Amino acid sequence: MSRKGVFGLTSQIKDKLIQQALERRLRNAEDATGTRFMPLSGGASGSHQPDIPEQFYRFHLHPGYQQIRIINDGAARLGITSPFFKQHDGTASGTTRIGGKALINYGSYNYLGFSGDSIVTAAAKAAIDRYGTSVSASRIVSGERPIHREFERALADVYGVDDAITFVSGHATNVTTIGYLFGPKDLILHDSLIHNCTLQGAQLSGAKRLSFAHNDWAALDGILTEQRRNFERVLIVIEGIYSMDGDFPDLPKFIEIKRKHRAFLMVDEAHSFGVMGKNGLGIREHFSLAGTDVDIWMGTLSKVLAGCGGYIAGETALVEHLKFMAPGFLYSVGMPPPVAAASLAALQCLRKQPERVATLQARGKYFLKQAQFAGIDTGSSSGFAVVPAITGSSLRAAKLSHALFERGISVQPILYPAVPEKSARLRFFMSYQHTEEQIDETIRVLADEMSKI
Ligand SMILES: Cc1ncc(COP(=O)(O)O)c(C=O)c1O
Repeated sequence: MSRKGVFGLTSQIKDKLIQQALERRLRNAEDATGTRFMPLSGGASGSHQPDIPEQFYRFHLHPGYQQIRIINDGAARLGITSPFFKQHDGTASGTTRIGGKALINYGSYNYLGFSGDSIVTAAAKAAIDRYGTSVSASRIVSGERPIHREFERALADVYGVDDAITFVSGHATNVTTIGYLFGPKDLILHDSLIHNCTLQGAQLSGAKRLSFAHNDWAALDGILTEQRRNFERVLIVIEGIYSMDGDFPDLPKFIEIKRKHRAFLMVDEAHSFGVMGKNGLGIREHFSLAGTDVDIWMGTLSKVLAGCGGYIAGETALVEHLKFMAPGFLYSVGMPPPVAAASLAALQCLRKQPERVATLQARGKYFLKQAQFAGIDTGSSSGFAVVPAITGSSLRAAKLSHALFERGISVQPILYPAVPEKSARLRFFMSYQHTEEQIDETIRVLADEMSKI
């Protein structure tokens, strides 16, 4: 990030903004309640520990909260409406409605339109009628329903592996799987652009964590040649399609390296399952690999599978182990039946309708080609499902998102710290429902606004 930081604010202005924001909040609270609050710098009257600094016992002084206030207040001062927490009126797919306004939508990873699909919706409703809305217990104790196993068997079949296990959150799937399986004598090696859930899992595990340059299997090979013998287990984690950049790894090379160094390979297919491969069966199908070539297949239900949660697919010894021991499974409620039913139905629809996948792939490539033709920086995107338009600063990304919204296009800005400040961007999630006309219109408006801002 530049010395001036987010939205180009200096540290004095930041401090002043924080102070003003906090005072404004207190004043509003006083107006609303008729109560006079202690001044922000006020003492700790009645306390037996008067020397404990205020930032250790007041939430508004937490550094994370202050950072949020800087961004939000800075944006408000610059006249930018917040791009966050926009409320969609209904299903969000290729199009959506926000506050009654119809928009072409690039903000949702409903790539194949299964969320909102009548077959998927009917399956969820039927599951509610039969099983209720919650299984009301962890699966191991008394929360298991036939739909859970039916869905997991279907996932294992898709990957050509022994079995699969589903978790109630995609993010928690990686946190608990990595966090449980690895420990302080182990090494976790991950791509430098890996998703936060892998980082959190690695942190929880206590293993040593190292990153290698994005998609650089040769760099990974180098680290392992040097360091493999210092550790017991080694886990390599990569993604099928990278969620911010829309590119993908040379998976056969990573498999070669993990075999050479006797390491485990985990592939997070959050954005590649349903998207890559002729039938949408993911990066495995794209490269014509066997399911057993990868040790841990991970995916989320929140993208193509129209649900909420995550899965791990692999050999029996992995899945059974996680079912009995992974805290995020063992000590957490089983997946709600309508979610399992919706994702199973989406998986079955995917297998019957590969034409949706072909259309999504064609639209993604078309978007990428048109954007590049218009001179837009799309980074290393392969045009599968995620195409960034790199804007060069958070401020420019936020302004462009707002300008496009005003012109009927919904796309989220990705700001620092989610990506480095100079690679702030608009991130376009493609849908098989986008038409070429909608894409042409989007590129025309984007290029026009980029030339102005
Ligand atoms: C690569 C990757 N893995 C895991 C997750 C977490 O999945 P979920 O949002 O379903 O919890 C995401 C979220 O988008 C992701 O992009």
